[in-house]
Formats: sequence, C-alpha cells, structure tokens
Amino acid sequence: MQLQFSSLVIASVFFATQTAATPGHANKYQWIAPTATDLRGPCPGLNTLANHGYLPRDGRNVTVPGIMDAALGRFNLYFYSPAFNVNWDAILIAAKFGLLTGDDLLSGTQMTLAALSSHNIVEHDASISRNDFGDGSGDNVHFNETTFSTLANSNPGKDTYDTTSAGLVQKQRLADSVANNPLLVNTRKEFILRSRESGLYLSIFGDPATGIAPKKFVNIFFREERLPVAEGWTKSKSLITGDSLGIIEETIHNVSDWTATTSCEPLVLGPNGPIL
Ligand code: HEM
Ligand SMILES: *[C@@H]1O[C@H](CO)[C@@H](O)[C@H](O)[C@H]1NC(C)=O
Ligand SMILES: *[C@@H]1O[C@H](CO)[C@@H](O)[C@H](O)[C@H]1NC(C)=O
Ligand SMILES: *[C@@H]1O[C@H](CO)[C@@H](O)[C@H](O)[C@H]1NC(C)=O
Repeated sequence: MQLQFSSLVIASVFFATQTAATPGHANKYQWIAPTATDLRGPCPGLNTLANHGYLPRDGRNVTVPGIMDAALGRFNLYFYSPAFNVNWDAILIAAKFGLLTGDDLLSGTQMTLAALSSHNIVEHDASISRNDFGDGSGDNVHFNETTFSTLANSNPGKDTYDTTSAGLVQKQRLADSVANNPLLVNTRKEFILRSRESGLYLSIFGDPATGIAPKKFVNIFFREERLPVAEGWTKSKSLITGDSLGIIEETIHNVSDWTATTSCEPLVLGPNGPIL
C-alpha cells in the first residue's frame, strides 16, 4: 500500500512536470532568425537545427555528438524533442570532416557553422542552393534563389519532388558548373556528398521509403531554414538511416548520370591548408 502510494505520487509529479514542460518545450525549439552575430554556414540542415535551438543558436561550439543528438531529437526527463529523425550513421563521416574546418586546439572537439564553408573539406561545387566557390560570384555560403531555381522548377506539374527529379537537378547543376566554373572539383567524393544531401531533403521532408517529398516543405526548408511545422510537416515516423538513404540514393545516382570531370580529389586538411 505504502509502495503503491509512493508510485502514484511519483507518477503524478512526473505527469505534472511533463505537462508543465510542454509550452516551455515548444518555446525552446521555436524558430528564431539568426542575429547579426550568430554564425551560419553553407549547410541548410545544420542552419535549420541552429535556428530552432537544437544546435547552439549562435552557431558556435558545435560538437560531433551535439550534431548527432540534434539531428535525431533529444530525449531527457522533461521532453522529447524530435528534429529530423536522422540517425547518426547517415551523417557521422560528414560531421567528423567538419572538425577539419578549424585549425586551433578547439577544433579537436568542436566547429562553427560558418567555418564549414572551407572549400573542398565538406563544402563542394555544384550545390543545389548555393553558388560555387570558384565561379566568380564569390559566395558559396548563402542561399541563392537563382541557383535554387533549378530545384524549384523541377518536377513540373507535380506538387512533390522525388528521386528522379533530384537526380535530374544534380545533373543540371553539375552541367552549369562544368560550363561556368573553371575551378570545378567533381570527383566521386562530391558525387557521394551531393547525393546524400538530396537523399536527406527528400527523406526528412517526405517519405524516407519512397523519397517523395512535398515541394512546399522542401522549399521552406531551403528558403527560410525553418521546419515547416506550421504548414503541416511532421518529422518522419521511421528512422532515417544510412541504409534507408542508400536505397533511394540509388535512383538519384542513376538518374544524375554522373561522371567525374576531375581525376583526383584535393585532400584539404585545414581551413588554411595544407592541401595535398
Ligand atoms: C541531418 C543533418 C543534415 C542535413 C539535413 C543536411 C542537409 C544538407 C543539404 C540539403 C545540403 C545541400 C545544400 C546545397 O547543395 O545547396 C547540405 C550541404 C552541406 N552540409 Fe549538410 N546536412 C546535414 C548534416 C551535415 C553535417 C553533419 C555536416 C558537417 C559537419 C554538414 C555540412 C554541410 C556542408 C559543408 C554543406 C555545403 C555543401 C555545398 O553545397 O557546398 N551537413 N546539407
Ligand atoms: C566556443 O566557441 C568560441 C568560438 O569558436 C570559442 O572562442 C570559445 O572558447 C568556445 N567555448 C567553449 C566553452 O568551448
Ligand atoms: C545569385 O546567383 C546568381 C547566378 O549565379 C548571381 O548572378 C547573383 O549575383 C547571385 N545573387 C546574390 C545575391 O549573390
Ligand atoms: C541503377 O543502375 C544499376 C546499374 O545499371 C542497376 O543495376 C540498378 O538496378 C539501378 N537501380 C535503380 C534503382 O534504378
């Protein structure tokens, strides 16, 4: 009897805490535009996580485990706060490469979102929403609507993007870089990264099994770096993993009809070199 009573008390306290935490939870993870001193970078995914407070809002002191936690959604006694439902195995290598974008002692454990723009570490040419580093525009970091128009105009007549349209967008964006960027780097590494990025936006904002995603949600993600919750998006019910992405990326790979135009990847080991 004694035991039952205490369990009941504990259960009520827990329930009360959870209920009380709900508005606070929503508030903690609401979208807030970055301020002038907050750092953002070339990754719309990490920028979005920072805009919602899943990663530090100032874009600094971003750790590998911090990214893994944020991409998945955190769990503690008070709240479950899902972000992308992306499993660590889908993004761990990119995150570890991210540490190379710093060259001070702190970069052993953390990075800033802005530093991720170091060219050819993770940042690459033929992006879908940013310009190339070497194409004369001078901006490989910020969202550019002209560049994004290839994706925005893809899959005409439908209100969804899919693996076929994503593959065609990658093909078109690469053709543009081949034509306009004399410094283009396009090896297998960039191809794998670009396809993973396409797989991610389709899986997070659509169905990870089919890779079909409402245009409305994807466009808000790229243009505003915001989770389109108010527009009706909910996070994927199934975990997005390296395996699930691998399956839909096969179509993206095939449709993008990719060939290397650079034979050897420059090995960039830090923001100021060395470049081997
Ligand atoms: C679930 C987490 C992530 C999502 C949803 C995501 C999503 C994306 C997408 C869609 C792009 C393509 C942007 C474009 O081509 O214009 C991109 C680019 C990029 N991502 Fe992420 N990403 C994630 C994790 C990471 C991680 C862990 C890192 C490294 C620390 C990273 C670093 C980058 C960089 C540097 C770019 C720029 C590549 C370029 O376009 O030049 N991302 N990401
Ligand atoms: C956070 O990052 C900033 C900028 O990179 C750095 O100066 C500061 O020392 C870091 N703080 C901690 C606690 O690691
Ligand atoms: C966006 O990209 C286009 C095409 O590369 C370029 O002409 C334009 O200057 C860019 N806009 C900004 C604001 O950087
Ligand atoms: C992709 O192409 C390979 C090689 O031609 C083929 O074996 C595979 O079935 C294709 N996969 C899809 C999903 O189209």
